[in-house]
Amino acid sequence: ITFYVPQDAAALAVGANDVAAAIQAEAKKRQLIVNIIRNGSRGMLWLETLVEVVTPEGRVAYGPVEADDVPGLFDAGWHEGKPEHSLYHGLTEEIPYLKKQQRLTFARVGIINPLSLEDYQAHGGYEGLKKALAMTPEKIVEEVTESGLRGRGGAAFPTGIKWNTVLKAQADQKYIACNADEGDSGTFSDRMVMEGDPFTLIEGMTIAGVAVGATYGYIYLRSEYPQAADVLNRAIAIARETGWLGNDIQGSGQAFDLEVRIGAGAYICGEETSMLDSLEGKRGQVRYKPPLPALKGLFGKPTVINNVISLASVPIILAKGGDYYRDFGMGRSKGTLPFQLAGNLKQGGLVELAFGVTLRELLYDFGGGSASGRPLRAVQVGGPLGAYLPESQWDIPLDYESYMKVSAMVGHGGIVAFDDTVDMAHMAEYAMEFCAVESCGKCTPCRIGAVRGTEVIQKIRQDHQREQQVHLLRDLCDTMLSGSLCALGGMTPYPVLSALEHFPQDFGLEAAPAA
Ligand code: NAI
Ligand code: SF4
Repeated sequence: ITFYVPQDAAALAVGANDVAAAIQAEAKKRQLIVNIIRNGSRGMLWLETLVEVVTPEGRVAYGPVEADDVPGLFDAGWHEGKPEHSLYHGLTEEIPYLKKQQRLTFARVGIINPLSLEDYQAHGGYEGLKKALAMTPEKIVEEVTESGLRGRGGAAFPTGIKWNTVLKAQADQKYIACNADEGDSGTFSDRMVMEGDPFTLIEGMTIAGVAVGATYGYIYLRSEYPQAADVLNRAIAIARETGWLGNDIQGSGQAFDLEVRIGAGAYICGEETSMLDSLEGKRGQVRYKPPLPALKGLFGKPTVINNVISLASVPIILAKGGDYYRDFGMGRSKGTLPFQLAGNLKQGGLVELAFGVTLRELLYDFGGGSASGRPLRAVQVGGPLGAYLPESQWDIPLDYESYMKVSAMVGHGGIVAFDDTVDMAHMAEYAMEFCAVESCGKCTPCRIGAVRGTEVIQKIRQDHQREQQVHLLRDLCDTMLSGSLCALGGMTPYPVLSALEHFPQDFGLEAAPAA
């Protein structure tokens, strides 16, 4: 009898290891032989620990399973595929939350054993790299450009154009740096892919290396992701042993190798140039641009810096062609985005869909509405620097340009929902406070502005010269928006101003003050 029990951090947090041990112990008691495969998460986090049992019809799901449930589940005959149990959900693939998704980047996550190269290849793994090895670097870059893939870390810069800059740069050494410092609130897609399908990232980075002529790569991983570090390191060792990394990849004469570097927990080290400083062993601080990292990046060499999801989307683009990928999505937002549903939602988790879906669909059709049962009121999209959207904006299609038009951003796809008990003035204060705490201190608008901004919002909340302070806050936001060196100071005004604009009553104001 084969069971799948996730080893993803979200499942471990709710006792997946205990569930696996309980299955083993109960099977022994009943003299049954079981094979427990530790997979990644399917992304339905409210069902974790989601245990799957292999039946002749396919994999069936039970969840959320706790260790104490295990004997009862055996009594109900789950090992014989019997459905009689309140935790039974039928065939995993038929669960609407999963079935309605368009999984390209996450096609294998939760399905395969993350550390089985055989499993990876049996599900289409390394097809992209095989094709890339037979192509010229220019052609690979062209294919990625053709796909319309844009940076999934948040800035949405066209990946093919970035690669082309590095390809054209002349240098004795070039690097691939993967940004895995996933610091946005409510985001976990990087983590899920690294824990659930690490070879995809390794393959994507190798393709990037072959495309631009870089022979070495670094994954800059946040220290808060120890499971991801372990899985990645083990996968890298397997790839080396099997000739998928090294001096002569699969006899092609091409060289590429990589390593994982662990950050120390600063939000700003997710900003690309601070990340480079940190990788070089310095204190992570933002660099001036130009020069672009694509021309003068890690150790002064041309460097491709991409987010985990951008790189993990490359193998399928090469395997199936740029055209296939660009057929998903809308406008200039091509392909899919793994949205991450978090906050006050009944069904939090990962939903990969083509651009163009609306927030309302995500919140209700997937999220199932609020966990508290109270009406939803505000949704922050795109991390702590993203705007708060009121219900009137929940029908805007989620694509980069449509969101930009309303001063919001899709960012890395993090979606955090709040019910009607939220105090939006407090959230605005929190945004400024976050910026003050995480500021690298290099530029004045952010270093001083965020501290003053926190004080000004406190005064507004205490009704201390409220109208005057609101003017001051707007002025300060203008200065931060146009005068900050990087996105931390430059985008903190988005959550602040959107809160003021759409929820003026929480600031003690009748209506939104004129800009
Ligand atoms: P940016 O717009 O300055 O740059 C985007 C990327 O394009 C950079 O990698 C830049 O080096 C590159 N680039 C620009 N012109 C180029 C050219 N001609 N050739 C090659 N490369 C070129 O944005 P930035 O400051 O890098 O990122 C800001 C974004 O980061 C925000 O939009 C925010 O959504 C996101 N963010 C993501 C977080 C996360 O946890 N994933 C956390 C915080 C912010
Ligand atoms: Fe540093 Fe803030 Fe300036 Fe960015 S905006 S460079 S984090 S001080």
